[in-house]
Amino acid sequence: MKLCVALDLPSKEENLSLTRKLKSEDIWLKVGLRSFIRDGESLLKEIKSINPSFKIFLDLKIYDIPNTMADAAESVSHLGVDMFNVHASSGKKAMRMVMERVNSLPNPPLVLAVTALTSFDASSFEAIYNASIVQKATQFAKDTYESGMHGVVCSVYESQLIKSHTSSDFLTLTPGIRPFGESQGDQERVADLVTAKKECCDFIVVGRPIYQSANPLSVVKKIIENM
Ligand code: C5P
Repeated sequence: MKLCVALDLPSKEENLSLTRKLKSEDIWLKVGLRSFIRDGESLLKEIKSINPSFKIFLDLKIYDIPNTMADAAESVSHLGVDMFNVHASSGKKAMRMVMERVNSLPNPPLVLAVTALTSFDASSFEAIYNASIVQKATQFAKDTYESGMHGVVCSVYESQLIKSHTSSDFLTLTPGIRPFGESQGDQERVADLVTAKKECCDFIVVGRPIYQSANPLSVVKKIIENM
């Protein structure tokens, strides 16, 4: 299991200051929409200059027509990130085109697809997708696997189920982690570290429990010790 720290702070300087505090750790860093729109490629370069071994997950959740997604995937790959994601609801044709394009490049990054956002509860999910989270997340995961992607973003509670419908080495990356039972904020389907371990999650994403803590480094060390 790998820890992926969400760099969701309001400014580039705050994100880089958090990154510097975690400089010695073997972790992934997640750059999301707000930070990337605001700070762009220079943020990615500065993260790697703090520690070249940091792995970067660019969480843009790409969703568009297949050709536009493939073009975007190529541009994202040229940024030198280690992993990025798309929405599985964009469909198999789009995901296949993304993988064809990415696999034609040197050093292709890992590509994941989002099944259901962890901020959905059962009824708000059903109102949009007309199916239960488990049904739809399983279907999206199968589509993602058959499209040649490396894994999915899902809640902890779907991780094992998705592996059983695809493959044990199909990656699951799970946000909504409250390692030691911290406050859940706007997340609905949260889980602690013990549950994430039991459910065989490959990556756990943790944001607020780390960056809102008075001592982010000690929280990260404690999480790693308990992984
Ligand atoms: O602060 P917290 O630990 O809830 O942060 C979770 C991070 O994971 C946020 O950056 C959020 O955008 C992201 N995320 C999520 N659910 C998904 C995909 C990404 O919470 N399905």
